[in-house]
Amino acid sequence: MVLDDTAAPTAIHVNAAPTVDNLIEEHERRFVARQPNSRALHARARSSLAGGVTSSWQITRPQPVFIARGHGSRILDVDGNEYVDFHGGYGAGLAGHAHPAIVEAVTRQVRLGTHFAQPSEDAVVVAELLAHRFGLPLWRFTNSGTEATMDAVHLMRAVTGRELIVKIEGCYHGHHDSVQVSVTPGEDEDLGDAGHPIGRAASSGIPEAITSLTLVATFNDLQSVVRLLDENSGQIAGMIVEPIMMNAGIVHPDAGYLEGLRSLLRQHDALLCFDEVKTGLTVGPGGATRLLGVTPDIVCLAKSLGGGLITGAVGATDELMAHVASGDYEMVGTFNGNPLSMAATRAVLEEVATDGGYERIAALRARIEAPLGASIERHGLPAHLVSIGAKGCVTFASSPVRNYREFLRVDDRFNHLHWLAQHNRGVFLPPWGKTEQWMLSVQHDEGDVDRFVDNFEQFAAAVGDTLRAGSNLG
Ligand SMILES: Cc1ncc(COP(=O)(O)O)c(C=O)c1O
Repeated sequence: MVLDDTAAPTAIHVNAAPTVDNLIEEHERRFVARQPNSRALHARARSSLAGGVTSSWQITRPQPVFIARGHGSRILDVDGNEYVDFHGGYGAGLAGHAHPAIVEAVTRQVRLGTHFAQPSEDAVVVAELLAHRFGLPLWRFTNSGTEATMDAVHLMRAVTGRELIVKIEGCYHGHHDSVQVSVTPGEDEDLGDAGHPIGRAASSGIPEAITSLTLVATFNDLQSVVRLLDENSGQIAGMIVEPIMMNAGIVHPDAGYLEGLRSLLRQHDALLCFDEVKTGLTVGPGGATRLLGVTPDIVCLAKSLGGGLITGAVGATDELMAHVASGDYEMVGTFNGNPLSMAATRAVLEEVATDGGYERIAALRARIEAPLGASIERHGLPAHLVSIGAKGCVTFASSPVRNYREFLRVDDRFNHLHWLAQHNRGVFLPPWGKTEQWMLSVQHDEGDVDRFVDNFEQFAAAVGDTLRAGSNLG
């Protein structure tokens, strides 16, 4: 079992100092050399799986990594390379792998039957626990974050009888039509004024007729929402927003921003939905909702909620959920509240996402923050660390990023190099560079975190050299 490749990188002789692009090239070469079986599997998979992967975001540069198994805080690829898992399955990994409580709950339920399409007692317990944690009384379950935000958008429209919704430029809420607008618009597109973004379809296959019902505002800019509410008076059903933006690194809300949104929307009889699919149980036991003290009309959860099993949830006020209970809005799904998922989710809430679990994660986060900050300073990187709960990222900008337009200016090559450098030394960060965050689980330990920190110091030293040599621009 090989945890890392600590051999000194091959010396690069490109004039004097290597550039960031040279370092990327070198690390990609080592990455591919370490993973011949992944390469072969990907080549084979191309003739049966579109693109050779099961979700388009598994297509990573230089090649996808096929995983054989996971245990605790570690995962093992098909080449026998072991990694400390900081990827966390794109934010689903709060429990870590094969957590004893999840294994026990799922094993028990498998023997009792895995699907009835009828409610179970576990579903009631989970709903009660979520109501307590998030301060919203009534819940329903879905099978993904996409389904959760889709139901939330439908519900906002059903309750208000209005068709327009507002979303934030640069926020991802899943892949249903209404939210596939201005997710990662590029600088080459006409994005409109920063205070009044133009909505852009985020993918092919999204009809203009639907895109036009989604209006786009700027994170941390209340005026951009005021403008939309005034221009479309009486027509906006509600707004969906990540309370802490987590598909642009991590962008915190300014003080008063979320409260401001809530009161603005109320003034216009429009609803507020927090997409906590990522923040959910990862920033704290009651998500950003409890942490930041602003309760919206609707909360969406998924990812870490199911302890690695497939589930999502929508919580809302009595008033809103009365429309679901009465059948005015039918929130349905064959696998909603599936007993296997509910058993795992109950175990997460009762035995994983506990006070002890969060204390452990806070201690590990603190063990990362100080040394990473010191490395950034020591090597003069134009970067800063943003972390909260189990999540963290290094944003390669000298000052905090407050919205998508600022995020767009961040040079992605530093994050890609960081991903490669950690990978080649036994730490698996989420791919997709600057957009993603690392993720701690309740099963990580000090040794895991120290490996990540040591790798970062080596990466920072190499990048610092390129900067001092003035060669970072490739
Ligand atoms: C904030 C947010 N909302 C919704 C989703 C969609 O969740 P899923 O991939 O489970 O459909 C994601 C997925 O990354 C997300 O980050």
